Amino acid sequence: MKFQSIIFSTFILASLTLSFTACKKQEASTVPSKKAEASQTEWWKQTVCYEIYPNSFMDSDGNGTGDIKGITQKLSYLESLNVGCIWLTPVYASPMVDNGYDVADFYKINPLYGTMEDMDSLIAEANRHHIKIVMDLVFNHTSDQNEWFLESKKSKDSPKSDWYIWRDAKPDGSAPNNWRGIFGGSAWQWNEDRKQYYLHTFATAQPDLNWANPDVRQALYDITNFWIDKGVGGFRIDTIPYIKKPAEMADGKPDGADGMVSIHDMTANTEGILDYLYEFKQKTVAGKGVFTVAEANGVGPDLLKFWVGDSGAFDMLFEFSHLPGADIWHKAKKISIPEIKTALISSQVATASNGWYPVFFENHDKPRSVNAYFSEKADRILAAKAMGTLMLTLRGTPFIYEGQELGMSNVKWNSVEVYDDVNTKPQYNLALQEGYSPEQAITFVQAFSRDNARTPMQWDTSANAGFTTGKPWLALNENFKTINVLNETEDSTSVLNWYKKLGQIRKQKKALTQGNFTPILAEHAQIFAYKRIFASDNENDTVTVLVNLSETDATYDSAIVVGCELIVSNYGDTEPGKMRPLEAILFANKK
Ligand code: GLC
Repeated sequence: MKFQSIIFSTFILASLTLSFTACKKQEASTVPSKKAEASQTEWWKQTVCYEIYPNSFMDSDGNGTGDIKGITQKLSYLESLNVGCIWLTPVYASPMVDNGYDVADFYKINPLYGTMEDMDSLIAEANRHHIKIVMDLVFNHTSDQNEWFLESKKSKDSPKSDWYIWRDAKPDGSAPNNWRGIFGGSAWQWNEDRKQYYLHTFATAQPDLNWANPDVRQALYDITNFWIDKGVGGFRIDTIPYIKKPAEMADGKPDGADGMVSIHDMTANTEGILDYLYEFKQKTVAGKGVFTVAEANGVGPDLLKFWVGDSGAFDMLFEFSHLPGADIWHKAKKISIPEIKTALISSQVATASNGWYPVFFENHDKPRSVNAYFSEKADRILAAKAMGTLMLTLRGTPFIYEGQELGMSNVKWNSVEVYDDVNTKPQYNLALQEGYSPEQAITFVQAFSRDNARTPMQWDTSANAGFTTGKPWLALNENFKTINVLNETEDSTSVLNWYKKLGQIRKQKKALTQGNFTPILAEHAQIFAYKRIFASDNENDTVTVLVNLSETDATYDSAIVVGCELIVSNYGDTEPGKMRPLEAILFANKK
């Protein structure tokens, strides 16, 4: 017997007809306690967030770069996608060495993107669309053009002398230690004025702040409170594990042909870091109804309890255990389906009682998920819908990255010179240094360059995909004539309509926002499956999700869907016990 997928309509959940005999009623033990229930109803746990990379989203004035007014123009689109919050990557004044992650002034808007008035009206207009704006706090470092740094570098006696991490050279004049920055090369840069080196975890133009100095911390809290007063809904906090440096800054054991060691291994999550972060919370967001999600590479599910939740520093953490890739691209390994499942299940379990999970598979630093997780032969549309299904049905707040809802894919440029991303050339050179040929090195770039995610948003089939009337700051993906909002709005079977459909289902089913997460088929090598269960005295709502993450057929014990009603399938129908490549299905319990 085949379940037929029902064309989505507002009646969908009421009008389902095909079913097996009885999706099991859930036992009392799955009923969430009153406290747990209450803690699941904050606005940011009920909604869907959407990440915007302003450079690439929508250009309103034809200068080739996206801007704030462009975002305001697209609020209706985002509302139609069920989005309730927009995370904006940095829009502050910046020389744009790292596209805004090098902040010159947190109180000013980058003129490329507009003015503070544009920002105020974006916040107000977004509110009218029931959308809150989430700002990106880049607090590990600033731009080397930030006044704080310009002051600090003047001399050792400057009032801001120790706002950054300064050290003397080794006796031979070389850098204080052998740490390699995340973007390659030494993490130290010589400064002639001070005759000292400064530390930069990322690019040379991004000197690290000295969080040990209470004045620095207070200045950062003031910035946060300024934006809270502007009415933003939350903060994404950039690259937080690096803010505390160890007391001893000694050489580390080299891990590459360059004789250096990754700074990540020397400074990430230094003991005592949480004291700073608890202080940050108390002096800024605590009790104000705004949420925080911190980027915390290396803080795995086992450590989450210290970092998130009522007694933790943040509400959510972006950690990366479920993503393919590595800081050093040529060292990246493919991630297997059991590894993806294990990582996601661990995070789901870890956030069941501590904090909340931000569900994401893409962002502005990562390749497109249809490429990252699947082979070149995979059906892109099925793959995008399979990942979209996980996005919108795992327990947590989904963070859709712009274009992910279209199934946008990687670019494949053949020369490293074409890439703009500040991390691309150093990674290419690192691969050459390690003995890879230029032909091999470019394949790492093609797989991992951050520009894969940064090509302009594909709105329609017109010149430059409707993104700009000028010359786009970064080349478009050539596939924009097929993959774009206009085409996908009109095609009921598109990835975009899948996201809309699942977003609607998510709104209607408490199981998907407030229900708990119970893995099923945990040992299955191809299928990731789970139940989302919301059970209370007068309601019993269960959604069963099955996603075949493999590109081959799979089977499972059909007993697990006995009594279930098919809500939706990315093939249009499904046969219990069997799944086709990349098939994704949702079942409801029979009412
Ligand atoms: C984060 C950002 C990334 C940036 C880096 C340095 O990882 O997501 O884009 O380059 O921090 O600020």
